[in-house]
Amino acid sequence: MSEVPRAAKDGSSAQATSSAVTYELPWVEKYRPTRLDDVVGNSATVDRLKVIQEDGNCPHLLISGLPGIGKTTSVHCLAHALLGDAYKEGVLELNASDERGIDVVRNKIKNFAQKKVTLPPGRHKIIILDEADSMTPGAQQALRRTMEIYANTTRFCFACNQSNKIIDPIQSRCAILRYGKLRDEEVMGRLKEICKLEDVKYSAEGLGALVFTSEGDMRQAINNLQSTWTGLGFVSPDNVFKVCDQPHPVVIRQILLSCNKGDVDSAMEKLDELWTQGYAAVDIVTGLFRVVKTIDQMPEALKLDFIREIGWTHMRVLEGVSTLIQLGGLVARLAKIHHPKEQFLI
Ligand SMILES: Nc1ncnc2c1ncn2[C@@H]1O[C@H](COP(=O)(O)OP(=O)(O)O)[C@@H](O)[C@H]1O
Ligand SMILES: [Mg+2]
Repeated sequence: MSEVPRAAKDGSSAQATSSAVTYELPWVEKYRPTRLDDVVGNSATVDRLKVIQEDGNCPHLLISGLPGIGKTTSVHCLAHALLGDAYKEGVLELNASDERGIDVVRNKIKNFAQKKVTLPPGRHKIIILDEADSMTPGAQQALRRTMEIYANTTRFCFACNQSNKIIDPIQSRCAILRYGKLRDEEVMGRLKEICKLEDVKYSAEGLGALVFTSEGDMRQAINNLQSTWTGLGFVSPDNVFKVCDQPHPVVIRQILLSCNKGDVDSAMEKLDELWTQGYAAVDIVTGLFRVVKTIDQMPEALKLDFIREIGWTHMRVLEGVSTLIQLGGLVARLAKIHHPKEQFLI
């Protein structure tokens, strides 16, 4: 109903629908892969899912890995491929936002497992329990028997961030797949595809900055891409760091290089600059950690010494001492590390 007047106002209805679609859908959803072939990265693991898809007999599955790397997407792709048109009838999805206590496991899941549904031959109903690590151990215990009793008609797919939060009896009933962090090239490739489809204007360094800030989390990379493009109209490193609200790596790099030269004063000056811009100590420490790894001309041993010091400070910051003095202390210690014989290398 509400679509009609809007279309009329815009004059052409075709134009109105297309603009409505691009306006309303976040790109993470718009470009969520619908087939396993489109899922980027983790090829060995995705290939195992493809074998299951070919075979048609889905075992109980447990997929674990960091956020934003395609776990939920893969499970849905698999369920779609297996059940086709029967997806709506044959799949029950429960995620962390649904009630999943013991009662639900006993009633909703059991009812679904008992329900009669017409499926393609040889296929099973699928229960997707997303973010399963947020289920209480009690609720997980209640699943054990259900999984076994209805195994001939119903298969379970769990997705979770930490597989150690899934109780052992469930783990032992499942085929366990682990998804790793996506590689930089994989995130970059996907971002380029989306930029092309959305006609986004970008610089190569801008995309590099998106990859750098997302740390292998595709969801974050795509979200940041969309925010930068819609908010600032061009994807350049400066704009990306503005949107992601992270200290600029160039400044961080300058701090590290000054430390390496033993020049505490200029390092402190840059640190002050970041501090007055309002960055929290934890942002700055995380920035130092990430950037130090990327300084190619720094000798490995020195990098490790730097990382050790940064790590200690990170710990103190997380414990609550997140002051400028704490960071100043770090900078002073880093400046002291500098090995006289290695200084000329930078
Ligand atoms: N491997 C991937 N290939 C392509 N897109 C991905 C991939 N991983 C994540 N995405 C994008 O990120 C979004 C969130 O992915 P999702 O599968 O929900 O992550 P999670 O691993 O946290 O369950 C998807 O909608 C998709 O746009
Ligand atoms: Mg998920």
